[in-house]
Amino acid sequence: MRAAIVLAAGSLMIGGALLASVGAAAPDPVPETPAAAPAETLKSAADFVSIKDPAARSVALFTEAGKVITSPRCLNCHPVQRAPTQGEDRHPHNPPMVGGQAGHGPVGLPCGSCHGPANVRTWGQDVQSIPGDPKWALAPAEMAWQGKSLGAICAQIKNPARNGGRSLAELHHHMAQDHLVGWAWSPGDGRRPAPGTQARFGELVQAWIDTGAKCPKA
Ligand code: HEC
Ligand code: HEC
Repeated sequence: MRAAIVLAAGSLMIGGALLASVGAAAPDPVPETPAAAPAETLKSAADFVSIKDPAARSVALFTEAGKVITSPRCLNCHPVQRAPTQGEDRHPHNPPMVGGQAGHGPVGLPCGSCHGPANVRTWGQDVQSIPGDPKWALAPAEMAWQGKSLGAICAQIKNPARNGGRSLAELHHHMAQDHLVGWAWSPGDGRRPAPGTQARFGELVQAWIDTGAKCPKA
């Protein structure tokens, strides 16, 4: 744990130095994210039973689950441009970072050199914590979501050729149980959690599958 904190502090200095050196070209500072901001709400699967047509209900369920999927906590790791983004506004990762061949970062500077197995508090004002999870890595290109419509994301996440070979049941398990996905609801100081809870999100995904896993048009 101590080693992780020292590494983390070192990396922040790298970030600061880089920011200073690029001067005017530096990205805007991270906007203040009130630590106590209430999480956005997420409706439960039961809220949708009044929609009688299963296909219409399925679309409505996925649209609700989409509040999580398109939250910054998920999108920051599912970019199209092969580089992670940060914060509520999805600004480029500071220091500059790329996914590298396997999503674990460039040779010599893997994600894990800064992102430990758990979130680590920092002493910074702008950056209050460094997020962490044992599996921290960039999502592969075929799982890129940023800038895509919810309908397009829906179509690709249920396509086994693009979702890591997962069946719908395995997809549900990943959404509802995966520890890295769960990080989005306890993302560390200075970040807003994803809406609702992982359990409620998992129920929405299950109900979406049970109603035929229909996708929104756009
Ligand atoms: C730290 C980066 C990171 C975060 C944050 C993250 N993911 Fe991922 N995600 C990955 C990686 C890496 C993979 C590929 C690994 C795998 O297939 O098991 C992946 C794969 C997936 C998949 C597999 C199928 C597909 O088509 O994309 C789903 C579903 C998914 N993530 C959902 C989510 C959701 C929902 C959130 C937010 C609540 C989220 N992820 C947040 C890194 C991340
Ligand atoms: C040199 C250190 C360093 C390396 C290497 C690094 N990161 Fe980061 N990363 C950070 C710091 C520090 C933060 C917190 C910044 C903040 O919250 O403003 C961060 C934040 C993030 C976030 C933002 C989470 C959110 O929702 O706001 C993502 C996503 C991320 N890193 C992904 C990655 C991935 C993927 C890799 C490897 C490909 C990686 N990082 C490599 C230091 C690093």
